[in-house]
Amino acid sequence: MDFDVLVDRRNTDCVKWDGLKAVYGRDDILPLWVADMDFKSSPKIIEAIIERANHGVFGYPIGSKEVFQPFIEWNEKRNSLYIDEGWILPCPGIVTAFCLAVLAFTKEGEKIMIQTPVYPPFYSSVKDNNRVMIENQLIENEGYYTIDFEDFEKQIRENDVKLFILCNPHNPIGRAWNKEELKKMADICLKYDVKIFSDEIHSDLLFKRAKFTSILSLDEKYRDIAAAAMAPSKTFNIAGLFSSIVVIPNEDIKGIYLKISESLHIGSLNIFGLTAMEAAYKYGEIWLKEVLEYIEGNSDYMETFIKENMPEIKYRKPEATYLGWLDFRALFPKAQDLDNFLINKAKVALNNGIAFGKKGEGFARINLGCPRSILEEALNRIKEAL
Ligand SMILES: Cc1ncc(COP(=O)(O)O)c(C=O)c1O
Repeated sequence: MDFDVLVDRRNTDCVKWDGLKAVYGRDDILPLWVADMDFKSSPKIIEAIIERANHGVFGYPIGSKEVFQPFIEWNEKRNSLYIDEGWILPCPGIVTAFCLAVLAFTKEGEKIMIQTPVYPPFYSSVKDNNRVMIENQLIENEGYYTIDFEDFEKQIRENDVKLFILCNPHNPIGRAWNKEELKKMADICLKYDVKIFSDEIHSDLLFKRAKFTSILSLDEKYRDIAAAAMAPSKTFNIAGLFSSIVVIPNEDIKGIYLKISESLHIGSLNIFGLTAMEAAYKYGEIWLKEVLEYIEGNSDYMETFIKENMPEIKYRKPEATYLGWLDFRALFPKAQDLDNFLINKAKVALNNGIAFGKKGEGFARINLGCPRSILEEALNRIKEAL
């Protein structure tokens, strides 16, 4: 695949390009915000969708075994993760999946813990459902984030936390939590009877030398308190097809979750999503390898560009995700000043770090899933504006 090709996404009803005016107040800016890629998806997926479309009948789908088997094999092969077919629950999107977890595993007024800074719907899933958010702030050291385990336990103990929503790999700070870190968290959750819902949407987007560990691949005992959500959406740039998977090994927990999801009639995927999912996990591996190499090239390019041209900005290469977390604190410690600079002076649309939490102030998230020329243009605009 030639990822240098510019695909014109304007007027295709896409949030990233067509939603600029609504969000940033102007559309003459370069969009590197919403977390989807500007690349065409794998040709294998496109072919499968065309073939399905040519069939011409688009009635209710069943979501058969054939669709999920490639997902099971993919995870076994790539992540040493055993998934039983009976643990799988389809769900349109991952945000929907963790909102259902909030409804299923907690009551109004109960406490849910998240690790900040984090993807904004983690906050809204708790607040909009009238639960109480408890924060375990991550520790930042020269762009590398780690977990404050003492605080993790303290927050759970003192607040009687019922559910912990984990982000692994973590958006926006790009860590793929390792086995030791996951075990430490899971042990604490086990000790205080806290359920874990692990958002693993970025689990296939790993840079070289990084390794993904699913919460479900730890010792069996943790499976009794944990659920995970995965999807081909980010991995293969098919987020608009809304097809994801929740994996819950424990029968009782699965039953509780299913009751809520059935009461809301959520759980059927659309046929193009199912078709794409099957093709992705069956045939998408080579495309994924290539796109990850390209994105890592983007990351390396940005790292060098920043060092050479604007060293006041700090960037540490993520382990996973195609999202870069840029530290502008030395230049624009205040979120509003950073917004003004990026939007009105540099004319680039990044995500302001404040949206991810208080500790995100002075940071901006940049999407590296784009042709190199777009990234070059964005970085040059920032450099010129500085
Ligand atoms: C951590 C995380 N979870 C969930 C989502 C969105 O998932 P979905 O579109 O399937 O709801 C994103 C998108 O950026 C994400 O980064």
